[in-house]
Amino acid sequence: MIRRYVFGNPIETEAVLRKPKAEQWEGDEQVLAFGANQTGFTCKLEQEDIVYGLGENVRGINKRGWIYVSHCSDNPNHQEDTRSLYGAHNFLIVSGKRNLGIFVDTPEQVIFDVGYTRPELLSVSMDSGNYELYLIEEASAEAVVQEFRRLIGQSYLPPKWAFGYGQSRWSYRTSEEVRQVARRFRENHLPLDMIYLDIDYMERYKDFTIDRERFPDFELLVEELKEQKIHLVPIIDGGVKVEAGYDVYEEGVKNGYFCKDEDGENFTLGVWPGKCHYPDMLNDEARLWFGRKYRFLLDKGIDGFWNDMNEPAIFYSEKHLKKVFEQLEEYRGQNLDICSFFEFCGLVQGISNNEEDYRSFYHNYRGERIRHDRVHNLFGYYMTRSASEAFEELEPGRRILLFSRASYIGMHRYGGIWMGDNKSWWSHLKMNLQMLPSLNMCGFLYTGADLGGFGSDATRDLVLRWTALGIFMPLLRNHSADGTRRQEPYAFGEATEDFRGLIGLRYRLLPYLYSEFMKAALKNGMYARPLGFVWPEDPVARHTEDQLLIGESIMIAPVCEQNAIGRSVYLPEEMKLLRFRGTELTEERVLMRGLHFIETALDEVTIYLRKDHALPLAAGGETVEAVDWRKLALLRFGEAAAYELYDDDGMDSGVKLEGHLFPVQS
Ligand code: GLC
Repeated sequence: MIRRYVFGNPIETEAVLRKPKAEQWEGDEQVLAFGANQTGFTCKLEQEDIVYGLGENVRGINKRGWIYVSHCSDNPNHQEDTRSLYGAHNFLIVSGKRNLGIFVDTPEQVIFDVGYTRPELLSVSMDSGNYELYLIEEASAEAVVQEFRRLIGQSYLPPKWAFGYGQSRWSYRTSEEVRQVARRFRENHLPLDMIYLDIDYMERYKDFTIDRERFPDFELLVEELKEQKIHLVPIIDGGVKVEAGYDVYEEGVKNGYFCKDEDGENFTLGVWPGKCHYPDMLNDEARLWFGRKYRFLLDKGIDGFWNDMNEPAIFYSEKHLKKVFEQLEEYRGQNLDICSFFEFCGLVQGISNNEEDYRSFYHNYRGERIRHDRVHNLFGYYMTRSASEAFEELEPGRRILLFSRASYIGMHRYGGIWMGDNKSWWSHLKMNLQMLPSLNMCGFLYTGADLGGFGSDATRDLVLRWTALGIFMPLLRNHSADGTRRQEPYAFGEATEDFRGLIGLRYRLLPYLYSEFMKAALKNGMYARPLGFVWPEDPVARHTEDQLLIGESIMIAPVCEQNAIGRSVYLPEEMKLLRFRGTELTEERVLMRGLHFIETALDEVTIYLRKDHALPLAAGGETVEAVDWRKLALLRFGEAAAYELYDDDGMDSGVKLEGHLFPVQS
């Protein structure tokens, strides 16, 4: 059952496609009180309630015990005490005796105090009190998700090849370097479907340009790699460089497509290219214009993109920086003491992503001038929408790979997301696992984290363990920052067999993973579920934070700690342990319900097959295209006679389940 309420005068986000009629607020047994000025509400939490959801965020699958602020934020240094990450996903489920879904639809900042101030209270607040509230009540948490997802519309479908392995680095700087990466993979028989191009392929970081000195033969490179079944995936940044003669800049200025400051001038801020303007992604005309620019790369044979810096990130704004320089003068020659030194640091550290800057520029949204902070969380969403709508116009019916850094619910229809800049930390490996189901609840199915960690130096064992988790992520990409230790599978100066085995297993599992992904997308279901979704009556399962169900048939329990020889795994029911050393199945053993210590070496993956379920396995391949979907082995446990396989051409964006499901019975 869905109920919708409107408070104040909310700005439309287009997160919800088919809105039920709004009802008069008459109270709810659990959603207790609205403040007098209606700037939020509270919801009572029973001791046994779990709070699921909130999409991209720090901490566990159960969000209880922290404050989260829904505010798209560029924060590569996030830790346990961070409150906002790159996406803003205002959907959660209070799951206990009742299963109550709550969606707070507003593009401005929202604070979710999930039992932080008072353990028995979820309290949701925002500045203006303008929002739409959806309450969804169903018999199970999973049914709540399904209802919610029906409301917000079908999740984005990437092309089939985008389920292969992708190698990225900031940056592969020349055509030759890209060729070298492809060569190293192919020489070592490491499966590969994508190489990502970071900002250095552009001419001085200008969107929709190519640096012809570094990439003189860009078109040929695309062609050559396509022959090897490798897709080149370039980055597109939100900011447009201010530079006379640069066509995108000139057109944007001429047509008034950029965001404006208080004085009606184009808002100037700094990101990678130096001074930039942000296209007004909320303005229909500007959005259409920006989206059509992707054609520059589509015409060169590119069929995948990642949209970045679209929180939007602001290294500095021109006006604020000027003020900082003036203020800094005041500190010159001073004896910086306990107060003034910290003030001085605050001034410098506050240059980037400054809240004042977000209040200093404007959009033209549906003909109205709206200050950015009121619609902040829509920027990345509308940038990605801009590309997706253009693709539909330029390449109708074709799936193009597209994912974004910033997002809001609604964007899940237009593209996937990666989980933003992380670190080569074991805690971030675990967070990657925990974020996946939370994102699925909010509609983001095509997602994954920078495998191996983006910032800081990775160790070989971390990258191996992270790969062993990453092979279950729909978006599987190893990416790392400039200046950090190289972390390609061949970068550690040792043999690559173990990496080859782990990535190879992904390709053996592809028919299963793709089937489960497509079923989830086309039925508004979950690709990855917390154990509590399936065994809500089992208190241990409900509180298991580091294991997941991937699709219908299997559970995973990755090792998330350095130097561990294995880990404790909880089985809510009897399951069959499948041990793979790389691509080879080396052990099948039935395990009783309960806790088991399972040793897992760095080159191994353990999978837990559920009773009366089956897992199809392909022979593998070095590209998605090479995987033979007709020759599948079926691993079974119990009474599973068949597995329902999904298959399609991997390109058509309008697919339905009908006609694409096949029983596998080998
Ligand atoms: C941002 C992105 C990261 C990219 C870098 C350079 O930090 O999140 O993935 O490598 O910019 O473009």
